[in-house]
Amino acid sequence: MIISIFNQKGGCGKSTTAINLAAYLAKHGKKTLLIDMDSQANSTVGVGIDDEELTSSVYDLLNNQEFDRENILKVIIETDYPKLHIIPSDINLANAEITLSSLMSRETILKRILEQIKDIYQYIIIDCPPSLGLLSVNSLVASDYLIIPVDPSYFSMKGIKNLVSSFASIKANLNPSLEILGVLITKFNGRKTISKDIKETLINSFGEKVFNTVIRIDSKIEYSQDNGKPIISFYEKCHGFEDYTAFGGEVVKWVTQKI
Ligand SMILES: Nc1ncnc2c1ncn2[C@@H]1O[C@H](COP(=O)(O)OP(=O)(O)O)[C@@H](O)[C@H]1O
Ligand SMILES: [Mg+2]
Repeated sequence: MIISIFNQKGGCGKSTTAINLAAYLAKHGKKTLLIDMDSQANSTVGVGIDDEELTSSVYDLLNNQEFDRENILKVIIETDYPKLHIIPSDINLANAEITLSSLMSRETILKRILEQIKDIYQYIIIDCPPSLGLLSVNSLVASDYLIIPVDPSYFSMKGIKNLVSSFASIKANLNPSLEILGVLITKFNGRKTISKDIKETLINSFGEKVFNTVIRIDSKIEYSQDNGKPIISFYEKCHGFEDYTAFGGEVVKWVTQKI
């Protein structure tokens, strides 16, 4: 099962969601691979890996088109969390949009890489960059499902319309089996009108595809990330832990219902 976490808007909680969904799945016994497709390396750092100390990253796989299983396995790192592995990113990935653009079948590079190793993992979670460039397209082409995190702001809804049309175009042209698993409301603040408005608008547009769980705003989330730890494995008595635990449960349930 391969799930991309994508929204072209920056700061809406993609990396936070990718890190904590992957950590939740691993904690609940599922062998999970997190793939960091953003040159900012937030999810790499977020599971305790130093992106400046890496000898290889996802960029090397994409750029060298290393479809050989042995080569792919060499880039995978075991994290401190049992059953959670990562293909890390580093700053080199910032060049990828340009270097990959001249390659043949450039939209399917990640898909062809994952075909070699996907039998090893129950879940593969991809943290996408904040733009609909080649890296995000590669992620969506390789995926079975898309999860869209949305933070409540007045810019969010306009972005979602573009996102849905990009999704439709990728589904029509490159990956007919891609489905939206769900929309996740992040950074929710029940005291703010905008939070309630966005929730209502999303439910009107996406209906049952909006996860019942909303991720409340919680400063411990940022704090845990700065410490290189998923909130799921860091501190149990906070909203971030409760909400990402409930969300992880919903993801497993929704995916299981679809199989
Ligand atoms: N629920 C939340 N409450 C408080 N801060 C959050 C929450 N979710 C994410 N953040 C913080 O907001 C910032 C952006 O989140 P991030 O997951 O990196 O977004 P993206 O990957 O979409 O750019 C990070 O500093 C992160 O720690
Ligand atoms: Mg990010």
